[in-house]
Amino acid sequence: MITLHSVKSVAVAQLAAAAFLIFPLASNAADIEAGRARAQTCIACHGPGGNSIDPVIPSLAGQPEQAITTALYQFREGNRKNPVMSPLAADLSNADMNDLAAYFESEKRTAPTHQTQAENLVLGPTLAKQYNCTQCHGPAFMGIQHIPRLAGQQHDYLLAQLRSFRAATRADMDGTMTSAVSRLTDPEIVVLVDYISGLGTK
Ligand code: HEC
Ligand code: HEC
Repeated sequence: MITLHSVKSVAVAQLAAAAFLIFPLASNAADIEAGRARAQTCIACHGPGGNSIDPVIPSLAGQPEQAITTALYQFREGNRKNPVMSPLAADLSNADMNDLAAYFESEKRTAPTHQTQAENLVLGPTLAKQYNCTQCHGPAFMGIQHIPRLAGQQHDYLLAQLRSFRAATRADMDGTMTSAVSRLTDPEIVVLVDYISGLGTK
């Protein structure tokens, strides 16, 4: 029999799980220098200082610490799956994740190499406003807390992520991204990504 008490416990447990996902590793103090040393294996793919030069691999430089720890945690726990990142994250302790995230957040993002098409400099901001993208990702798409920075992010990576949120093949910690993207058409995704990927690095 489902009592009111057990319903409440389930609700509390779900809340606790959600809080744990959003603030997964907050209890450990991060060490940037330890992160820098650990990051040597990461920069082979994510680029020097976490500035990727490969369009399918995301930059990590200047990404909010909490967005990085959350992604690593999701890969390690199997919520978010990727044949390359999942096994790499499996070897990381919570302390490693905190150190790596602190290090990559501290690195400066270099200027984007992507050139936005002229018409999308107008269409992009209009769509971003219409779909409230900047309400969550920050006015200049710089990210905030657990919400990732998108400005200047690699073009093909962004495109793949938006399409997989829409196809519900990418994990989404609280469902907000899946619902934000569900109303977009594919041509609108293409415009938004062309715009966001060319945004500056301040
Ligand atoms: C062999 C190449 C490779 C190596 C080495 C690698 N990564 Fe990745 N990483 C990727 C790819 C590819 C993705 C995109 C995965 C996807 O599409 O979901 C990714 C995604 C990520 C993301 C998600 C970024 C976001 O914006 O959501 C984080 C965080 C990350 N990697 C951290 C690390 C860390 C930390 C290390 C070192 C311990 C590392 N990676 C090593 C290839 C690599
Ligand atoms: C209600 C808040 C919210 C809105 C609105 C929103 N996002 Fe997000 N977005 C998030 C969160 C939270 C994540 C991280 C999801 C996760 O990893 O589980 C995210 C992740 C992303 C990612 C993946 C980034 C990466 O580094 O892997 C992209 C791309 C993205 N959002 C683009 C957009 C675009 C474009 C819009 C507007 C159409 C938008 N978002 C609107 C909250 C939001």
